[in-house]
Amino acid sequence: MSHHPLQAPPPIPARPRMTVIGTGYLGATHAICMATLGFDVLGVDVVAEKIQALAAGRVPFYEPGLPEKLRQALDSGRLRFTTSFDEAAAFGDVHFICVGTPQQEGSAAADLRYVDAAFTALAERIDRKALLIGKSTVPIGTAARLTELVQRLSPIGDELELAWNPEFLREGFAVEDTLHPDRLVFGVASEWAESMLRASFAPILEIGTPLVVTDTPTAELVKVAANSFLATKISYINAMAEVCEATGADVTRLAEALGYDDRIGSRFLKPGLGFGGGCLPKDIRAFRHRAEELGVGHAVAFLEEVDGINLRRRLRTVDLVRELAGGDLRGVRVAALGAAFKPDSDDVRDAPALDVARMLYLEGASVVVYDPEANANAHRLYPDLDYAASLAEAVSGAGVVALLTEWAEFRTMDPVALGLVVAQRRIVDGRHALDQDAYLAAGWTYRALGRPAVAPRLAPADAMDQQVA
Ligand code: UDX
Repeated sequence: MSHHPLQAPPPIPARPRMTVIGTGYLGATHAICMATLGFDVLGVDVVAEKIQALAAGRVPFYEPGLPEKLRQALDSGRLRFTTSFDEAAAFGDVHFICVGTPQQEGSAAADLRYVDAAFTALAERIDRKALLIGKSTVPIGTAARLTELVQRLSPIGDELELAWNPEFLREGFAVEDTLHPDRLVFGVASEWAESMLRASFAPILEIGTPLVVTDTPTAELVKVAANSFLATKISYINAMAEVCEATGADVTRLAEALGYDDRIGSRFLKPGLGFGGGCLPKDIRAFRHRAEELGVGHAVAFLEEVDGINLRRRLRTVDLVRELAGGDLRGVRVAALGAAFKPDSDDVRDAPALDVARMLYLEGASVVVYDPEANANAHRLYPDLDYAASLAEAVSGAGVVALLTEWAEFRTMDPVALGLVVAQRRIVDGRHALDQDAYLAAGWTYRALGRPAVAPRLAPADAMDQQVA
């Protein structure tokens, strides 16, 4: 039943019933965490296998701490899963839309088909006042377009309201970022929508989390502006690495010295192979594309350079491996350590590590990839590469070792023990994750982006060989 405009809107429930549409990294984490905070939550996805796994207590991706939270949420009886939009429409006071917005094939723009499908499916079914809350990262103006769409489709017309609530969670820290975010952003068009959001996030607001209430275009922009800033910061230090490579300067000391300036800060100033993943690369491209459409392409033209610097780091890493291999990669066995786009994740979307492994393979190297969690996802994407089941298997007989994702298992390798199983002690540290001195002392040739090449020292065993000779 629709409410007459002169009637007061229905009261705000103390604990709104929630649906979460899309149970990927973002949606599954959001649904699970909200249930542990005491809300009744219904998780919805069109992929039945994901729903079955979650309902059975299995998180279908690697995220530290999340399986325990899922167990807790299921045990509380507050979390259920379904593939039915009818059930979702009937259940929710608020509906969080968390579906993916990947890059379109053959274009820099975001692919909004999943977002449009989710909002449409809900709008056609919801028959009492409710709030649709977008969490997906979208081009500026999407909320305004969707508001018009859902109110046209909905049996209750403009009683169906829409808000945007961008999400800033990092993979690997998803639970912490959801329960203790740096800030909340509510992009709203009415006081009722703001009140519903405040009720939905009450436990998180009560712990003193800063809140910014704004309109929907600003809320959409906050997300892409934040990710663009982070990408720019990483590419800035990687651009300095390029300058270091031309001058013999050392980018790790440079980053350390810059980071002590509070105005600059050391976070996201870590040089290396650069950024990847399901967010930063596609978000800066979609932002640039949208800015062009809006006639302000010049304002963010620098993001093309940010992207370019980032992609060049991958090529330069391949150069270093080739140099260590003596100029030709054909037939050289390379141990590629890491496939995920960053440690503590099994996500290989736009992963710099896997991209480097692929390029080495195309130059004729015999590449053996090992990642503690991402082997299966990497294999699905690049079945032609060889995958090792352990670190020991990957490095055994290697002509060059390339560290591409800084998992703890790699950071803590013992250079002496490692030196005994490889064919050649030659290592490229793509993430500045290793102790250069320790590797040099153990007789390794060590190379890293943006750092001068240092001649290897002779390991004790070699020194002895030479004396004997
Ligand atoms: C990012 C944002 O941090 C998060 O706020 C947003 O909501 C989603 O996108 P995420 O993709 O999980 O999160 O990864 P993040 O930790 O930001 O790392 C992104 C990439 O940058 C990784 O490939 C990482 O290796 C790289 N990186 C990060 C660097 O190369 N140097 C750094 O100093 C920091």
